[in-house]
Amino acid sequence: MAPAGAARVTFCLVLAASILSISAAPQSPNAISKEWATYNMQRQNIRIGSQITGDTLRSVLDYSFASPLKQIQSSNVYQAGNARMRRVVHDLQRGNPIKIVAIGGVATNGSDASSPGSDDFFALYVKYLKRGFPNARVEPVRSSAGIAPSAVVAECLSSYLPKDADLVLLEMTANDGVGMDASLIDGHNAKAYEILLRGILGAEKTPALILTQSMVNGMGNGSTPFYLTPEAPQYAALASYYGTPVVSMRNAIWGSGTPTRNSGMITDQVVQEDGSTPLSPGHRSMADMLVFNTQRTAEDLLLLPYGDYDTQSIAMKVPDTPVYGDVSSEPWTVLSNSTCMWVRNISAPDTRLCPVNMAQMCSLDYSNRANMLRTYDERIDTRTSNSKAALIGGVVAGVVGGLLLIGGLLAFCIISKKRHAQKVAAAAEAKAAARRKEMASSGSHGVPITATSRQDF
Ligand SMILES: *[C@@H]1O[C@H](CO)[C@@H](O)[C@H](O)[C@H]1NC(C)=O
Ligand SMILES: *[C@@H]1O[C@H](CO)[C@@H](O)[C@H](O)[C@H]1NC(C)=O
Ligand SMILES: *[C@@H]1O[C@H](CO)[C@@H](O)[C@H](O)[C@H]1NC(C)=O
Ligand SMILES: *[C@@H]1O[C@H](CO)[C@@H](O)[C@H](O)[C@H]1NC(C)=O
Repeated sequence: MAPAGAARVTFCLVLAASILSISAAPQSPNAISKEWATYNMQRQNIRIGSQITGDTLRSVLDYSFASPLKQIQSSNVYQAGNARMRRVVHDLQRGNPIKIVAIGGVATNGSDASSPGSDDFFALYVKYLKRGFPNARVEPVRSSAGIAPSAVVAECLSSYLPKDADLVLLEMTANDGVGMDASLIDGHNAKAYEILLRGILGAEKTPALILTQSMVNGMGNGSTPFYLTPEAPQYAALASYYGTPVVSMRNAIWGSGTPTRNSGMITDQVVQEDGSTPLSPGHRSMADMLVFNTQRTAEDLLLLPYGDYDTQSIAMKVPDTPVYGDVSSEPWTVLSNSTCMWVRNISAPDTRLCPVNMAQMCSLDYSNRANMLRTYDERIDTRTSNSKAALIGGVVAGVVGGLLLIGGLLAFCIISKKRHAQKVAAAAEAKAAARRKEMASSGSHGVPITATSRQDF
């Protein structure tokens, strides 16, 4: 009798506790800092081998978080093998210079922070790195893409990414979220994003890449539900494939907001008119999640010191096979399709034609929608005759390729396997040549295309 009663009491307590934790009012700043203080004290006292964490990592762990602990823990969505970031932190600890580049939209530009350049997330994170690793020279580069989507950044990567970047924070989800409904089904944004990831990961110094996922339009004003963002599942799948860490502003902020009935949330950390652009507190939450990621990496380096595992993993090439087949077979089409959908989406009502020459997209003003559309109308070649030529070119290439393939198959039936192989190779080459010709006739040069290169890069 007694045990059953005790069990029932325990059950009720657990139930009450879990209901409380779901519906609990947001923590006060005081409660948040107390919670972090306890957590930090505990983690500074960990002994690993002969080292005490607090002695080795004092400056790295010395940071005051503004967001609740459990939200920051859940903002670090995926850490992956993390070899590249482990190298960056290892270098910082040894006092090596690090060039850190933030590429992204309005959040990356710091536009709606109260003092852009000093309390936006990038500025805060760089400040933390300089304090946390006082012997290293940290060189920040801010590459604002304005409202441009991943397809445009991928196309114009050389003007956003300095060749010698060591660490890249890529913040594209808010920009790519425009027109995302369609993208969730046909994946045109995800393909463009994959081209962008491959471009960054393949850069000269094999930079560490942290996917810094911002909130999409409407997510912070109750009009977009939790799940309706390209950060998951599509970008999450790409992160897993390429082993790229992910931090999520949505997760960092969600629990502090006011839930709405339709699985939405309203937070005062972002601009209410778009429900997405971070204000100063939103920037603070983003900085928190990046700092936590860096601290975790530093702690991980105590458990498993930087070594062969990391160097071997870094030396591995970006896999030849992409997640989306089109990404390697027709990168130009992927970028132009994705750009085209985006242009139509922000032009609504849909009157504009698609760009013929993707390289021209690099010269536009992306600081806001009106400037983008004006410069688009002034500078972009959208002649339909050219698109028709490209289309005819494509059809011809397809027919030629098809005929050659049939030839190859016939040969397989008639002559030796060796000669068959030669024919297939020839057919593939003819097909490739036709594709090159098609691309030349439409004025593009494949991927990556060097665009307006910034002088400092
Ligand atoms: C643009 O995308 C949004 C979804 O983010 C969609 O509701 C809207 O209909 C799209 N507009 C056009 C013109 O495609
Ligand atoms: C919330 O955000 C959406 C998407 O940006 C916007 O269309 C809408 O007007 C915003 N709602 C409010 C109440 O500001
Ligand atoms: C590009 O868009 C066209 C037209 O919508 C579509 O048929 C084609 O499959 C797309 N190609 C790629 C690679 O996305
Ligand atoms: C970045 O913000 C500044 C103002 O702080 C603005 O002048 C500039 O146009 C913005 N750049 C982009 C690309 O949005």
